[in-house]
Amino acid sequence: MKFYITTAIDYPSGEPHLGHAYEKLCADVMARWHRFLGEEVFFLTGTDEHGQKIMKAAKKNGLSPQEFVNKQSEKFRELCLKWNISNDRFIRTTEEQHIRVAQNIFKKIYEKGEIYLGKYSGLYCTDCETFYLEKDLKDGKCPIHGKECEQLSEESYFFKMGKYKQKLIDYLEKNEKSIYPKGKRTEIKNRLREELRDLSVSRSSFNWGVPVPINKKHVQYVWMDALINYVSGVDYPNGENFKKFWPADVHLIGKDILWHHTVIWWSILMAAGIELPKTVLVHGFINTSSGEKMSKSKGTVIDPLELAEKYNIDAVRYFLLREIPFGEDGFFSEEALIKRNNDELANELGNLLNRTLSMIERYCNGKIPSGKMDSGLAAKLELEKIKKHMQEFELHLALGKIMGFAKSCNQFINEKKPWMLSGEKLENVLYSLSEALRVIGLLLQPFLPQTAEKILKQIGAEKGKIENCKFGLLKGGEAVEKGKILFQKIQTE
Ligand code: MSP
Repeated sequence: MKFYITTAIDYPSGEPHLGHAYEKLCADVMARWHRFLGEEVFFLTGTDEHGQKIMKAAKKNGLSPQEFVNKQSEKFRELCLKWNISNDRFIRTTEEQHIRVAQNIFKKIYEKGEIYLGKYSGLYCTDCETFYLEKDLKDGKCPIHGKECEQLSEESYFFKMGKYKQKLIDYLEKNEKSIYPKGKRTEIKNRLREELRDLSVSRSSFNWGVPVPINKKHVQYVWMDALINYVSGVDYPNGENFKKFWPADVHLIGKDILWHHTVIWWSILMAAGIELPKTVLVHGFINTSSGEKMSKSKGTVIDPLELAEKYNIDAVRYFLLREIPFGEDGFFSEEALIKRNNDELANELGNLLNRTLSMIERYCNGKIPSGKMDSGLAAKLELEKIKKHMQEFELHLALGKIMGFAKSCNQFINEKKPWMLSGEKLENVLYSLSEALRVIGLLLQPFLPQTAEKILKQIGAEKGKIENCKFGLLKGGEAVEKGKILFQKIQTE
């Protein structure tokens, strides 16, 4: 089995923000989960470096667009490192290989007679890099950014997107999983009831873009360049990775770019004769707790690199994954993060490891005793439900079930009172707790990779895959190695 997952590629016109980090985090958990299932995974992320928005930002910073994106894209790479994102490739749309593929697809569609030269007049929002019709505006402004749109008029190539309308509707009808969650699929189906216009796919009033292969006075429209990263990232058309991994299993994106990833991307693929991705998966938006929508252009941004310096990155990952039901919008606040760190990670998970290891040290000379898994405790692990939640992209529920099992282990300690036991009874309790911790460690690998590694190391177990999540694999005699506390409690004044 293979699993190919992508995130949107970020505009490096500003600094990375928490929304970017959140998207990469969710994709990372899914990629790691599928590796955990034993599948061959390819995980792609990167930066979207062409277009007017980048050109303007470069100018403001007194740099050439190329110098500017070189500098900025490093910050997004650093974000991946600091957040422990396990992407297999970081693509930049200014890479030569990507440019070649973007031109190849443009040319292919042009040669099929699906692109023609015309003139565009319309309203353009540079922040979205998108044209709007008068009726789409909110109070005369961009519906996403609330900014004035520019009136543009220039020669442009057009892609005959309009003629794909019925094909797109049929595809949506037939493929229930093509957009997830369900409500988003309905949203696109409804929008497709209206007239679908041809798409302007080139710009001629500036030059920071992929040159149109048939007319060097034009550059490809930035979306006609950026979306193609999903196939250039796996070396379309002849690369091994393309053959192995395409079609993508999941394109993970935010709700603001759903239209681009369905109607635009799918019709380009249809025109180019390339298979369509299996699922476009939409996550929610993160807002700050003041109720303000996070937005680069409004300056209400939380710096994810600073967060990674300030807190244990697994505490940040945990907070976002548990706090925000996947697919819904959610709030970020440091107070709520600290509360979850203290109550759930330090008090439940950290404490469970600490208590268990202390008892093994005290009562069993630091070696896991051989024993029998307690069937009552074993039954508290809802592995099938965890798998099902992951299949349905309910990351918050899957993680909740794993943490619920840790909580059951703490209750088990309180009920069994191992300090009052001896002999076989004591050994069985400590063996059961070690086994439970081993399975918790394994299951946490996709969510909290560093913490999972620490847990497994401290109880003398190996990293592993889903098939190791059954009880009875520890033999007894494994030396435990109590390490530093997993999660420090954070004091707030
Ligand atoms: N460059 C385009 C995407 C091209 S994909 C072929 C773009 N870039 S972006 O930097 O503006 O956004 C990147 C991703 O971050 C998008 O999926 C977007 O929805 C997501 N988010 C932007 N702000 C967000 C939040 N406040 N919260 C969660 N995700 C958010 O669009």
